[in-house]
Amino acid sequence: MYNNVTNDIFYIGVNDHHIDLFEGQYDVPNGMAYNSYVVMDEQITVFDTVDAHFGEVWLNNLKEVLGDKTPDYLIVQHMEPDHSANILAFANAYPDAKIVGNAKTFTMINQFFGHDFTYRRVVVKDGETLSTGNHTFTFVFAPMVHWPEVMLTYDSTDKVLFSADAFGKFGALDVEEDWACEARRYYFGIVGKYGMMVQKLLKKAAGLDIQTICPLHGPILDSNLGYYLDLYNTWSSYGVESEGTLICYTSVYGNTKKAVELLAAKLEAEGCPKVVVNDLARCDMAEAVEDAFRYGKIILATTTYNGDIFPFMREFIADLAERGYQNRKIGLIENGTWGPTAAKIMRTSLEKGKNITFAEPVVTIKSAMTKENEEEIAALAKEMK
Ligand code: FEO
Repeated sequence: MYNNVTNDIFYIGVNDHHIDLFEGQYDVPNGMAYNSYVVMDEQITVFDTVDAHFGEVWLNNLKEVLGDKTPDYLIVQHMEPDHSANILAFANAYPDAKIVGNAKTFTMINQFFGHDFTYRRVVVKDGETLSTGNHTFTFVFAPMVHWPEVMLTYDSTDKVLFSADAFGKFGALDVEEDWACEARRYYFGIVGKYGMMVQKLLKKAAGLDIQTICPLHGPILDSNLGYYLDLYNTWSSYGVESEGTLICYTSVYGNTKKAVELLAAKLEAEGCPKVVVNDLARCDMAEAVEDAFRYGKIILATTTYNGDIFPFMREFIADLAERGYQNRKIGLIENGTWGPTAAKIMRTSLEKGKNITFAEPVVTIKSAMTKENEEEIAALAKEMK
């Protein structure tokens, strides 16, 4: 399977519908795509390989485009194995081709494969170019988007940005689905911690005339690029994307859940533009994390448990803190039959984030809601609508 991206650029990636968990943790109900490209020029360039399970399919895709020609370069933009696993297979199939990367790339190649192609490698620096005839490629280093060796490549001839993991999403390419939903879950799951590095990359990209973005996951983006760039700017600057209030909760016997249901109803009655509720024990955690970065207001409700907070809430808050959670207003509801301490623990875990404010009142339920709790929840809804 291959398609033209431009007259000279061909898609040679693969769809994975057998994957269990992407990167060992993310559910991908619509599979995953590992993209790879070949640029047919006087000298032929391949961009990245694919996951270990698809080496043969990928090499066949490449061969179909090449016909009786052979490639001159393999550009390695990212060494995570979903893209790098078939470097050796490529090198063995095409012994005259050169491997292109930066100094960090070759350190990692050595770590993964036990040698670093000393006699057939091209080590590039940030901003350096490689000309293959008609095409000139400029390497744009993007450390920590998503690993330190990551570099993107700009083709000034066809005005294509090969963007590595940036602008990628979960989901195979033979499944139709909304881009933003799975791109947001992917972004906050995988590179959410490195917003500042993504901001640096966007500043570099702003200086380029880009007509097409070729990421290593997800569809090729060739129209309405402002939409995707704006979303990346919002996400990486920890901005609020959508109006509304998110409630994330855990409940052991249903009493905290009842409080959350009342809160959701009160928020709606107050005219809150959108109320989203996630039961952290049952929802996809990565979905809850992306929601937390999507909306500007979040209410957390959980029980005191073993002198701490309920495990799913603990994991959720750790996921947020790890990704630099900031610029948000947070409401708290705690439940505890004796000595409730959950609100204090949640507050302490989140208050170090930049521009985090907490709503009043903090609602403390002792086992089951009282009339007074109902009034507090109504007041909280007013404050967080
Ligand atoms: Fe798609 Fe960071 O690998």
